Amino acid sequence: MDALTNQVKSMYEQYPYPSKDAGIPRLAELYNLLQLFARETGFDFKDKRILDAGTGTGHRLVEAARSMPETNFVAIDITEASLQTARSLADSRGLTNVEFHARDILTDTSDLGQFDVVMCMGVLHHLANPEDGLKNLTARLKDKGLLFLYLYGEVGGRERMRRKTIVSLLNKSSDNFEQGLQLIKDLKFDTFEYGWNLPVDDVQLRDGLLVDAYLHVNEKLYTSESIINLVNGSGLQKAALYGITTGQCGYLYDTTPNGTCSLRVPKTEVSTWLSSDLLKAQFEKLNLRERMQLMDLWFEPNGYTVVAWQDNLIDELPGGDRLTRNGFKVER
Ligand SMILES: C[S@@+](CC[C@H](N)C(=O)[O-])C[C@H]1O[C@@H](n2cnc3c(N)ncnc32)[C@H](O)[C@@H]1O
Repeated sequence: MDALTNQVKSMYEQYPYPSKDAGIPRLAELYNLLQLFARETGFDFKDKRILDAGTGTGHRLVEAARSMPETNFVAIDITEASLQTARSLADSRGLTNVEFHARDILTDTSDLGQFDVVMCMGVLHHLANPEDGLKNLTARLKDKGLLFLYLYGEVGGRERMRRKTIVSLLNKSSDNFEQGLQLIKDLKFDTFEYGWNLPVDDVQLRDGLLVDAYLHVNEKLYTSESIINLVNGSGLQKAALYGITTGQCGYLYDTTPNGTCSLRVPKTEVSTWLSSDLLKAQFEKLNLRERMQLMDLWFEPNGYTVVAWQDNLIDELPGGDRLTRNGFKVER
């Protein structure tokens, strides 16, 4: 294992994410994402085999597995402390459709077999080499496979990065988490953005989230452009931004002004920025990549949910139009 991966592992062994405590309130974000995706596109998760790569303490995965008893989940993580919590959480719910394994995404995981769906939520940006990690995960997909990623956003992550640099300058030693936590509290940086907006009255949970936000030993932030570069060469065939988070809100992603969507969920509505005929006309001339760049600057995402698919999977689904019109072919 390389030095950086070792450092990441050591951090999460000390502060498992989101919490060592199996008893915190249920976290439904992952289940909600899968349900929204199924409702919009018509994709059926029943009898599918899903890999959750970097499951952490499994709070989000276990909630999905509990609510989707006819789907089979395999979850991996590099951190033994996190897996212990995840296993006890799944046992306490009496789940028989989820199994956990200690594995490094950066090494060969072919013994786990092939999957209909691979999810890697909030993990790839912490890897020593995200491109290699993504290639390994893509290799686990079946021919008509589907992949979800959650990645940090650079444009909307500026304030957190500013604070993180202040803490790092004062902390001096990057692995002194205890002192770092005290500095964060003294600086009054212990407020949370989307994704860390959890029930944080529990001190242990709060400390784990603060370590993740301000003391992380390795993270990379993305723009729509660097996401396109990340997926190029991964072995994936098509990809789209599924949604973004900005501040404390989540939006489905669409670059089309007044584009149709069957879900009654907030959507990035570009027409709100196009208040004149000139603006509309100039926007019309942009290609998808340019529109995505503009959307980054308008919406300032602090996170992106990316969906990628093989072999026309989404193009052939009855409700795949929003994703198809925002989708791009991945370069080989
Ligand atoms: C921020 S947590 C995300 C947990 C979970 N996906 C969620 O959304 O709640 C990142 C997780 O990735 C795991 N991780 C980091 N590097 C890894 C690697 N190379 N292989 C497997 N897991 C890794 C960490 O141990 C940690 O549990």
